Amino acid sequence: MKCVKLKGVRDLQIATIKKPVSVDGSVIIRVKACGICGSDLHYFEGGAPLELILGHEFSGVVVDPGSRKDLKVGDRVTGLPISPCMKCEACRTGNVQYCPETWTNGVGLSLTNSGGYAEYLSCRADMVKKLPDKVTFYGATLVEPSAVSLHATNLAKINVGDKVLIIGGGIIGLMAAEFARLNGATYIALMETNLKRGKKALRYGSVQELFNANDKEVINKALKKSNGGFDKVIECCGNQYAVSEAIMTVKPGGTVVLVGVATGNISIPVVAGVMKEINMQGAIAYTEKEFETCIELIEKKVINVEKYIDSKIGLDKVQDAFVDLTSGKTDNIKIVIKP
Ligand SMILES: NC(=O)c1ccc[n+]([C@@H]2O[C@H](COP(=O)([O-])OP(=O)(O)OC[C@H]3O[C@@H](n4cnc5c(N)ncnc54)[C@H](O)[C@@H]3O)[C@@H](O)[C@H]2O)c1
Ligand SMILES: [Zn+2]
Ligand SMILES: [Zn+2]
Repeated sequence: MKCVKLKGVRDLQIATIKKPVSVDGSVIIRVKACGICGSDLHYFEGGAPLELILGHEFSGVVVDPGSRKDLKVGDRVTGLPISPCMKCEACRTGNVQYCPETWTNGVGLSLTNSGGYAEYLSCRADMVKKLPDKVTFYGATLVEPSAVSLHATNLAKINVGDKVLIIGGGIIGLMAAEFARLNGATYIALMETNLKRGKKALRYGSVQELFNANDKEVINKALKKSNGGFDKVIECCGNQYAVSEAIMTVKPGGTVVLVGVATGNISIPVVAGVMKEINMQGAIAYTEKEFETCIELIEKKVINVEKYIDSKIGLDKVQDAFVDLTSGKTDNIKIVIKP
């Protein structure tokens, strides 16, 4: 089958590999659609691990149901791209995101389990979720990132009337803005370095104000507009400037949720955090329940995720899409691959 492999720094190439077969009862899925995630961009920039086949935001049809007696060939599905052990305390209490095994065999996140940038993939049987008829294959690719944003906003504990700042207007930030609105936030602002994306965000309806992160006065402006700082700041970029912006703009006693994955050690304004007694909350992935909730929210049209999809491309256009998405100048939010 055809796939796309990571071959080095900023280098993705088409390759031909063997089609996966069911192992330990896994479900084999013919991939219909797969989203390009901001985390995939980090792998692209870092160029490692070599030979990785990305793609953890997938949907498709079952070609081999493996050990799943309730599934048949042709069923429409998505899946959690993770590999929790289901035995440890975290797994038993529904917090698969804490399990030490969660990322070891992740679909499109490990060398042992190739992802959706390919014609077929293998997903652990217990991680496969059936799609309701009303959720399209494209909509289903947004379940995974929506669940990330839902988890982050749940951890932010947004109250009715809160002022919320989202830093970074990629899909994770924009979905976090939608959930902040659903939770009753009355002032939702976005801070962005890429103004094309920022202006587009204003049109989707959840973000009310845009702050230009390139402006030297941006922190003062945000503090002034929020009347001394935001109750909750959700950082969705993964770099030291964005984490610093979050610490500087949260109000005393407020909460910063870190969703962006800054992979190296970074330098941040600790004194401001100490003096303001801020709460710092990490957020990784989602619980199984939050993933299922997002399928339901899309089915019931509580959230409309397909509006974020800007283009649908073949495997041969993946390299170009990554160049575009890492340019810092694109207004594309989500590009979906149809292998
Ligand atoms: N914690 C998790 O479980 C989890 C899951 C998925 C993604 N992520 C991470 O979340 C982050 C966002 O994901 P995405 O898919 O939306 O990525 P993305 O790359 O599409 O969006 C990030 C946005 O941040 C903006 N930005 C960069 N530096 C900035 C700064 N200093 N101030 C303001 N804006 C800035 C960029 O212009 C870009 O629009 C990534 O780091 C990704 O790895 C985390
Ligand atoms: Zn992702
Ligand atoms: Zn576990």
